[in-house]
Amino acid sequence: SRRTIVVMPGDGIGRLVLNETIRILKVAGFDADYVTGDIGWEFWCKEGNPLPKRTIALLEKYKIGLFGAITSKPKEDATKELAAVLQNKGLVYSSPIVGLRQYFKLDICIRPCKSYQGNPLNFIRRGKDGGIEEPKVDVVIFRQNTEGLYSGVEWSNPDNIVYAALTSHPKFVKNFANVPREDLAISTRIFTKTGTTRIVMAAFNYAKKKGYKSVTLCEKPNVIRETSGMMFRLAKEIQRKKFPEIELWNTNIDAQMMWLTKNPENYGVIVAGNMFGDIVSDGFAGLIGGLGFACSAQMSEDGIAVFEPTHGSAPKYADYAISIVNPIAMVESACMMLDYLEEKEIAIRIRKAVAEVIKEGKIQTYDMMRMNGNADVISKGAASTRQMADGIIEKLKAK
Ligand code: NAI
Ligand code: MG
Repeated sequence: SRRTIVVMPGDGIGRLVLNETIRILKVAGFDADYVTGDIGWEFWCKEGNPLPKRTIALLEKYKIGLFGAITSKPKEDATKELAAVLQNKGLVYSSPIVGLRQYFKLDICIRPCKSYQGNPLNFIRRGKDGGIEEPKVDVVIFRQNTEGLYSGVEWSNPDNIVYAALTSHPKFVKNFANVPREDLAISTRIFTKTGTTRIVMAAFNYAKKKGYKSVTLCEKPNVIRETSGMMFRLAKEIQRKKFPEIELWNTNIDAQMMWLTKNPENYGVIVAGNMFGDIVSDGFAGLIGGLGFACSAQMSEDGIAVFEPTHGSAPKYADYAISIVNPIAMVESACMMLDYLEEKEIAIRIRKAVAEVIKEGKIQTYDMMRMNGNADVISKGAASTRQMADGIIEKLKAK
């Protein structure tokens, strides 16, 4: 049966890269209908809700979303008046993409970082013989997407109930008992066994399917014992009982950030909680070209999946007469959607086309040329968003 994709362009450059990506999907022969899901700042302004119910209903119905980016903290000056009006009505802005992740419990986040041959932004290092080496980076990060430090359970100047709970903890009494209450700011790091098991299982299942020999857990279990520690214990148990043929490696997040700049080729599948997964995936993304190349998938237990680049809406680049941003992260995210839909052949063709464009090196967006992003970059030889997409389309058509 014909598929329907819920397209959520969002704000700023999210719209630009998503439009180009859909052009590419069509040329590549991906047969689907597209419906637009309203999301973002525009709908906050128009109707006081950046994530309208009709968008949720669309995703509930069609289950597959392709998302651009949203602006989660709009420029104060332009919006103060409006914000006041909405707030008077009791409406408070909150990030619609975070809302979407929470509403659909998109708890599994997958972020692959694979270097393209010929990408001028690839990480290089000095080899043993003194020459320059370019290690191949090919890592897939599994990040728990709904719990941990980003779940928003926080306080400053905690009330009596919270304070009473804190003072029941011996470490708090030992280290903070004499601190004035208004001096306290607290963000909790809540892990559940269910959520932790799901992300660890997802990582191991992927490793098994793709033939990896190990999975690396990247946390800090010796220090953060109740959460990282639990994740480590669960990972060990899952490995021993269900995946004895795959090794479990254990690295600390801080050391991992150092190791990935020394020998990134040693890592394959990585699993982590929400915040450390965020950090380590940005670290690896930096080795393969940064935000213009970093893609992601997010999925729920109920079979809802949303695919999006990890970059944001980059508002300052949204209004240039000619768009300059790199669409590859969005295109790669769409390829992850194709993999998910078992449209492997189309995904392979698009990735090949992207790889050819990068390897040839004739079409490069400003970020690939290490320029500062401004309206002049086109006159200095950088490709526009459209030209990059056209380059990819040309390769697709040549086959
Ligand atoms: P950002 O990712 O939008 O942009 C940061 C910088 O990265 C840009 O100024 C630009 O230099 C570069 N960049 C980003 N995407 C690029 C691309 N495709 N090609 C070339 N260069 C690119 O992050 P920023 O500026 O911190 O946030 C802007 C807005 O986006 C904020 O409102 C933020 O909350 C929101 N945001 C939304 C996300 C989402 O929708 N999932 C994720 C991250 C930020
Ligand atoms: Mg991030």
